[in-house]
Amino acid sequence: MRVLLLGTAAGGGFPQWNCACRLCKSGATPRSQDCVAISADGKGWYLLNASPDIRSQILSTPVLAAGPGPREIPILGGLLTDAELDHSLGLLMLREAGGGLPIRAPDAVLHALRDCFGMREIIDGYAGWEWLPISSGTTLGSLMVQVLPVSDKHPKYARSSTVDGPWVVAYRIEDPATGGVLVYAPCLKSWPDGFDEFVEGADLVLLDGTFYSPSEMSGATSAGVADGVQHAMGHLPIAGEHGSLARIAASRGTTRWAYTHLNNTNPVLDATSPEHAEVLASGAELPLDGTEFKL
Ligand code: MLT
Ligand code: MN
Ligand code: ZN
Repeated sequence: MRVLLLGTAAGGGFPQWNCACRLCKSGATPRSQDCVAISADGKGWYLLNASPDIRSQILSTPVLAAGPGPREIPILGGLLTDAELDHSLGLLMLREAGGGLPIRAPDAVLHALRDCFGMREIIDGYAGWEWLPISSGTTLGSLMVQVLPVSDKHPKYARSSTVDGPWVVAYRIEDPATGGVLVYAPCLKSWPDGFDEFVEGADLVLLDGTFYSPSEMSGATSAGVADGVQHAMGHLPIAGEHGSLARIAASRGTTRWAYTHLNNTNPVLDATSPEHAEVLASGAELPLDGTEFKL
């Protein structure tokens, strides 16, 4: 299985257009918004989430180029972990896809995109897309997919919805031909129940790296303390006694752990920072956009 990281930043990307913080002004390597493409045969590709940067991500990724037919595309469908705009707005950018695309997501996510946003009606006005609820397992071509409910974090635009969750899930994707296993978990509120079993034997875990510290959004660069704290609560921080890095450092086996969905406030974005060095020293990775893994 080929795993291509199309984007590795949180909502807004890095640098963020409306931010003049030290990091955004530092010249550290830019990152586009979190999105992954996977393929068993290198010909047909599936998107994991659909970022608002999808157009430039596709155009800068030769294997995702259109052809050989005039309107043929190698993207065969998509899988959403949640209904956040940075993970779903790309679907609007893909509206030109001739016959539409099959999109799999938890029920609550499909509900949000239809009833809270109205995005599905807009997209279906261009072509009939398939919106397929996923709760336990499914297949993407020859790839086998398992689902783990992660949290009920609602997107801001759907905060009043009372539809049952899960609103956020993680995926475990296995290629039976190679035995390669990817776990994609870019939005973790906490270390979920059952997560240790879910990642058992995985070759690669792509993990929520939004914030380095729990207090990050209440620092000098944030717009407001209350909003910051609320925002941080939706994402398990990397550092600290209960952070994800302590879990990774304690884990055994041959699993590679890589952070994605990095927020523009996260000091690990600066490759010369002590925080960046600490993540690497603890056995986790901070891959840039364009990184490919073969599992
Ligand atoms: C999140 O990951 O918490 C969301 O994408 C935040 C947002 O952009 O509204
Ligand atoms: Mn996000
Ligand atoms: Zn910034």
